[in-house]
Amino acid sequence: MNDSKKILVVDDELSMREFLQILLEKEGYAAQTAANTTDALSILQQTPIDLVISDIKMPGGSGLSFLEQMRASGLQIPLILITAYASPEDAVRAMKGGAFDYITKPFNVGEIKEIIKNALNSGGGAPSQQSSVQLTMNGDGVSSFQGIIGQSPEMKRIFDLISRIAPTHANVLIQGESGTGKELVAQAIHNLSKAASHKFVPIVCNAIPESLFESEVFGHVKGAFTGALANKTGLFAEANHGTVFLDEVGELTPMIQTKLLRIIQEREFKPVGSNETIKANVRIISASNRDLEEEVMAKRFREDLFYRLAVVPLRVPPLRERKGDVPLLVNHFLKKYSTLFGKEITALSSYAMEVLMEYDFPGNVRELENIIERGVALENSNIILPESLTLAAHKRKKTHPTTEDDTANHNGYFAMGLDDAVACLEKKLITQALQQADGSKIKAAELLQTSFRSIRYKIKKYEIN
Ligand SMILES: Nc1ncnc2c1ncn2[C@@H]1O[C@H](COP(=O)(O)OP(=O)(O)OP(=O)(O)O)[C@@H](O)[C@H]1O
Ligand SMILES: [Mg+2]
Repeated sequence: MNDSKKILVVDDELSMREFLQILLEKEGYAAQTAANTTDALSILQQTPIDLVISDIKMPGGSGLSFLEQMRASGLQIPLILITAYASPEDAVRAMKGGAFDYITKPFNVGEIKEIIKNALNSGGGAPSQQSSVQLTMNGDGVSSFQGIIGQSPEMKRIFDLISRIAPTHANVLIQGESGTGKELVAQAIHNLSKAASHKFVPIVCNAIPESLFESEVFGHVKGAFTGALANKTGLFAEANHGTVFLDEVGELTPMIQTKLLRIIQEREFKPVGSNETIKANVRIISASNRDLEEEVMAKRFREDLFYRLAVVPLRVPPLRERKGDVPLLVNHFLKKYSTLFGKEITALSSYAMEVLMEYDFPGNVRELENIIERGVALENSNIILPESLTLAAHKRKKTHPTTEDDTANHNGYFAMGLDDAVACLEKKLITQALQQADGSKIKAAELLQTSFRSIRYKIKKYEIN
């Protein structure tokens, strides 16, 4: 059985040491205990140990610094951290530091047994050792990580976090506005995890009505309800050993939240109408474009469930906070849609790019992709001009230099080249609008049917006063 496996328990509380020792020995493991991290380190140096379970808050040295000391002295033994005070900062530090898992007290006996088994099968516990961010550069200098395009410091931080947490078993909560790439991030974590050869099963929480949720997600047996004509394997069972991706997790109803919490704690579930329990051996990655902390505060989301799902919280920043990625993404989508539409569009005009750089992308990367897709479809030359860009805040009037009559040439616009001509005309129009609006930027923006942000930006850019 398990008798060859040695487990070291580190906790300052005697009752906890005794409790875990009894539990472990009952399971057939050999257990040793230490009351502080100094004793624990000296045991580790003298005895071969297969797994360490350590408390976090201890006088004389925390479990987190113990983890760091272990790794610093080259000990790659898997470590499970236990704490009574769940804080996302600690969890991230634990996972980044290479802990195998991180659990909060009070825990369930079934849960800890399962984690121990997984940890002992993991063959080592320092995922951070394996993680170096592999950025791929294609021929055009587009740098990406697992298909996620980006090179801004914000995205590099995310790539780094993904590669550190992927090999752990920790549940991850990905938050961010719509269209920021949360699903890509979830998929990347799965692809780099030990579960990569198993399934990644997305469940769009708000797409399944509450009455069907249980049977869709946990399965049912024949005859469980009218219409249950055969046994059905639920999505959780389908994802066994793999990853469940709970998309829009903030939309789960209170009843389903309670069910899910129980399954996570007990690590098993019963299909509807069945007495047989099935092991829920899945990693849960969730995503939400609502702020789940706020949902917790407003009592719309269970706090205990939140902490189970958000062992490692991760935030994908909106595109407007990482504008440096825009040109890279533009190139990528230009390639994609030029090929798709059989066109040879290789670039955006420099003014079109400027327009994009000042836009704030309420729909994030998804919106940028749509803009480029439409741009490629509309454009007849081999460079995308500003008028082929359809931005939400840029509803243009027909008072555009290119649509104006032949005075364009008389005004010397042709000689200026399109980008400069457009800039020149823009400056003129804004100045006129400002005059007409008695200097009010808001009114000028209205007159030109553009956004206040955009006017303010251009006034500064063209130094209009
Ligand atoms: N960094 C990126 N590189 C390449 N493509 C991206 C990137 N970010 C997002 N995309 C693309 O943008 C679209 C939206 O991404 P995704 O579905 O992952 O966003 P999301 O955050 O899950 O959005 P929602 O909250 O609306 O579900 C997808 O087509 C995706 O491929
Ligand atoms: Mg999504």
